[in-house]
Order: sequence, then C-alpha cells, then structure tokens
Amino acid sequence: MSTLSNKRIILGVTGGIAAYKSAEVVRRLQDQGAEVRVVMTPAASEFIRPLTMQALSGHPVHSDLLDSEAEAGMGHIELARWADLLLIAPASADFIANMVHGKADSLLGAIHLATPAKVAVAPAMNQAMWSHPASLANIDTLEQRGVTMIGPDEGIQACGDIGPGRMEQPDSIVSKVSSLFQNGLLAGKKVVITAGPTREALDPVRYISNHSSGKMGFALAAAAVEAGAEVCLISGPVAIVPPERCEVISIVSAQDMLDASLATAADADIFIAAAAVADYRASTIADQKIKKQGDSMTISLEKNPDIVSAVALANPNLFVLGFAAETQDVETYAREKLERKKLSAIIANDVSRTDVGFNADDNEVSWIDRSSSVVFSKRSKTQLARDIIEHLAKGHFH
Ligand code: PMT
Repeated sequence: MSTLSNKRIILGVTGGIAAYKSAEVVRRLQDQGAEVRVVMTPAASEFIRPLTMQALSGHPVHSDLLDSEAEAGMGHIELARWADLLLIAPASADFIANMVHGKADSLLGAIHLATPAKVAVAPAMNQAMWSHPASLANIDTLEQRGVTMIGPDEGIQACGDIGPGRMEQPDSIVSKVSSLFQNGLLAGKKVVITAGPTREALDPVRYISNHSSGKMGFALAAAAVEAGAEVCLISGPVAIVPPERCEVISIVSAQDMLDASLATAADADIFIAAAAVADYRASTIADQKIKKQGDSMTISLEKNPDIVSAVALANPNLFVLGFAAETQDVETYAREKLERKKLSAIIANDVSRTDVGFNADDNEVSWIDRSSSVVFSKRSKTQLARDIIEHLAKGHFH
C-alpha cells in the first residue's frame, strides 16, 4: 500500500556530500505515492545538479528567493502552504543553526518559516560537528518546537572519521516520514464524516444544489484514517477521488444523507458534518421535465431534515463536530448553531471569500466549543484537516 498517497512533500536539500543521496529520497518518496517538489540551497547545488533533481521530481527545482519567474509560477509562500511536510535531507549544521534562529535569507529558510506543515530534518555532518554542544543545543531547540529528527546514522564518514553524523539511508528516511502521517491518535475509534453537497431533484433533469466540492470533508476523512480511525465517509455527488482505506457511501439527497448518517453513526465515536446540505427541497418532484411556463415561475420548497441535529439527538455520547458556513457575523452565527443543533463543537467557516471555503484548495477557520476557541490560519485543506483531527483527538480522546 502507498503510505504517502496524495501527500505533498517539499524536499529541502542543503550543502553536504550526502546531497547525492537526496536523489534517491525523491524516488523513494514518489514510490510511496508522494508528490515531491525540491528546494535547494546554493551550497546544495555544488554537490548535486538541480537538473538531476528536476528530472527526478518532474518539476522545476526552486532555489532562488528573488527569482521573479519562479515566484510568478508558484511563489514561496504558496509553496510553503502547498506542502503537507517539509523534509530537509540532508540538513547541514549551518542550515540547522539558521532554522534555530528563524533566518529567511534563503528560499528554504523562508519556506521553513512560512509553512504550517510538519517539518522533519535528516542531519548530515562530520561527527565532531554533530557532537559539538552548539549543534546538540540546536537539535534540542528544534525538537522542542516539534521538528522531527531523522537520524543521523553512525559509521564511516566521507572525511574518513567514524562516528555519528551520517545522513540516514533513503529507505529509512522514507519509512520514518510515512510514520509521521500515521499518528494513531484515533486508533480504535469510529469516525463518520459527511462531505460535499446534496442534490434536491426538481424533476428528472434538474436539481437544487451548491458549490461544495467535497474537498474539506474528504481531507478530514484522510486525516482521520491517518490518525488510525475506522472511517465512514458519506458523500454527496463530487468530482474528486475518495481517500484510501475508508468506507464510502455515495448519496444524492439530504434524506439519503440522513438515513446513511443515522445508520452509521449509531456505533460511532465521532460525527463530523462537513457537508453543505440543501436546507430546502422541492415539495413535489415532477415525474416529467417541467415545461416553460411564461416569464416567471414559482417552485414550492419544504424544509429538509437537519442531519447533524438528528444525529446528535439520537446519540448523546457521540462527539458531534458541525461546520457553520457563513458570509457575515461568522462567529456569532456559528455559536448560535453550536447551541441550537446541540453540537459538541463547531468549525466557523467564512465562505464569503473565493480563496478559502467552497471549492478552494485552502481554508481558514475557527474551532469553537463551549470552553475555548482556536483560530486555524489559512492553509491547505489537507493540512487543516490534520490539525482539526489532532485538536479534536488530543482535546477529547486522550
Ligand atoms: O466541500 P468544499 O468545497 O471543500 O467546501 C467546504 C465547506 C465550505 C462546504 C465546509 O467547510 C463547510 O463549511 N461545510 C458546512 C456547510 C453548511 O452547509 O453549513 P451550514 O452553516 O448551512 O450548516 C451548519 C451545519 O449543519 C453543517 O455542519 C451542516 O453539515 C449541517 N446541516 C445543515 C443543514 C441540514 N439540513 N443538515 C445538516 O446537517
């Protein structure tokens, strides 16, 4: 099974003899299904040519912070947001020190500061440099900030010394990277997630719906799978591919979604309602295509069932996380829905913008419950989903 399917990884390569092994790291990451973009420091280019990395990754190599052409393609902030993981391999002593001080004088340094993604570092340096108190203190600082250290290995070094400081082998790096995405936070839990729009038929060829793409709900399903949960994804009609390793129930209308939700949530631990359910449906569905009736026409609508409320009412012990899609007074309306729908928590989502919310790849939301609220600044829906699942799991299931 491809453990890094759909994962977006920036491989940062810094200067050192181990840079030649980063070509193999690209290959191994791709073998596991990851999409890889390579960022090289100027020193790295002295050890391995950017062209090699470009050919292997299938994308231009990014190296210059002030390259206007590259910025016009995918700018460094965009690249930083794109990633699920920033992996720096090899990481030189100098670059590690720069990370500690938050230096942004290189493209890689700027991406390190700008990315909301996980960061992993595979150090590579001479054994005496590695054992120096300054290096050890730097590593300690990065670990305290949540950076994952991969290695280093011990053994004979390029300079002839023997000791710790060699970069880990590519296979071992990639296996440790894979384990970063399988955190086990929800192991043994069942999570049901609704996603996408519902379609409410008017006649055999027309319907009422909305612009939900399913990306947010699908990303949450993928994140819950990564966290070790058994996941059931109930999705309206969408054009995206569901994540691996989850049960998918495809539905069309709000009534279908209600039926599937009540059935699957009965033995679940967590219910997440990311779907954009049509609030109303046609009072009657015409058997035949409705004919034109002059300059205007009136369609009679009736209220759809409220799925998330029904699920919360039927399962008082379930953790129910709703979403509130709002275009104004986002927090106020979200809090009102939290209470009215008897939810455990709600994600307030400003959908007045085009760069986040409906159909966008990124999102920016707030988690609101009765005792706290947390802002999740703009990031990819993939990353946001992981952060939401982690917040939920750590706050309520650990
Ligand atoms: O799918 P994407 O393109 O990625 O976009 C993501 C999103 C913007 C759709 C998503 O982030 C989001 O905000 N989903 C909720 C959309 C919505 O319909 O919100 P609402 O405020 O109308 O509903 C509040 C809550 O009640 C939601 O959890 C909704 O799923 C639920 N609901 C609403 C109506 C209804 N009849 N039954 C419900 O369960």
